[in-house]
Amino acid sequence: MSNPINRSIKVNGKEVKNRIIMPPLVCFNWGNDKGFETVSRGEHYGKRAKGGTGFIIIEATAISKDGRITDTGLGLWSDDHISQFNDIAKSCHDEDAVVTVQLVHAGMKSVGNTVYSSSPVDMENKECLGMSIEQINEVKENFVKAAIRAEKAGLDGVEIHGAHGYLLSQFTSKETNKRTDKYGGSLDNRLRLPIEIVKEVNEATGDDFIIGYRFGVNDPTMEEDKYFAKKLEDLGVHLLNVSSGIGANDIEVPKDFPFSSITYMGTEIYKEVNIPAACVGGIRKPEDAKHLLENEMIDMVAVGRGLLADPDWTNRAINDEEVDICYHCSPRCKYAVDGKKCPWYR
Ligand SMILES: Cc1cc2nc3c(=O)[nH]c(=O)nc-3n(C[C@H](O)[C@H](O)[C@H](O)COP(=O)(O)O)c2cc1C
Repeated sequence: MSNPINRSIKVNGKEVKNRIIMPPLVCFNWGNDKGFETVSRGEHYGKRAKGGTGFIIIEATAISKDGRITDTGLGLWSDDHISQFNDIAKSCHDEDAVVTVQLVHAGMKSVGNTVYSSSPVDMENKECLGMSIEQINEVKENFVKAAIRAEKAGLDGVEIHGAHGYLLSQFTSKETNKRTDKYGGSLDNRLRLPIEIVKEVNEATGDDFIIGYRFGVNDPTMEEDKYFAKKLEDLGVHLLNVSSGIGANDIEVPKDFPFSSITYMGTEIYKEVNIPAACVGGIRKPEDAKHLLENEMIDMVAVGRGLLADPDWTNRAINDEEVDICYHCSPRCKYAVDGKKCPWYR
């Protein structure tokens, strides 16, 4: 039987040559506080594209300066940012990879002394206030403008970051969203902001532009996640990249499931939708990805730290060669401190 990693798949009509996704991975300390790279991303992503990866999602990129995850992260809040993405688009397209960028507003997790979320939150060292309707409208507008810039840069699409406890998670989760207006309370109200963003981004960009959504599982419960996943499909999202949400610690995983709870949730969301779904979470070895694909547990497999450790991971997996196995450095991925501290990084 042919290697299941090496089967092509269409995402919004675009041919992706194999089933491996590089999920977004912030390159910490590789930028300045104006949203510009100081270390070439064209080279970084180009190497992973050259190593065979079919679909690359560029790291979390801020839609506004006040929504940054880190003060050295990439931005797309100004037209001046477009050219750095142009370079990445070219280096990935030269190697026949599809490439999108993840767009984020970090909400209460943003850099700054005063930050904004769905509702006010008591925080150490900073003030977190609830967003006004005007601020919510501005967030929507900034997502749309950033997506238009991504399209101008020649990227194939965007991924809207709805996971990991950032702003959109803070709206969907009832743990954080205590609003009493149309953006809070019922499930449909809590889902309103991401849904409006997806709709507006879809309307503002071309028909062949890929809209992905990084889905945060258990924001707020698995049943509600399934409802949300179907809604996103109906709205025209083309790819669900399933990861963790605010309530992700409470997931019950069947004892015989051989991967992480986050991977499990990806396989559960996959069953609910007819658009491509990807799972993630600790997939280091080619045989793990093969197992998931061969058993039709998922459409695409995201290999994060594995691709930092070995840019040739995908080609090696396709050719049944050994990969440089990510050490899963503990307590924290060394790359998360500074990209080049990964013991394997190249
Ligand atoms: C250094 C580092 C940076 C990350 N940056 C992002 C990011 O920008 N956006 C995002 O959604 N997830 C981010 N993640 C999570 C990864 O996309 C991925 O879900 C996670 O590493 C688990 O996959 P893995 O076990 O294959 O590494 C990051 C993870 C690490 C280790």
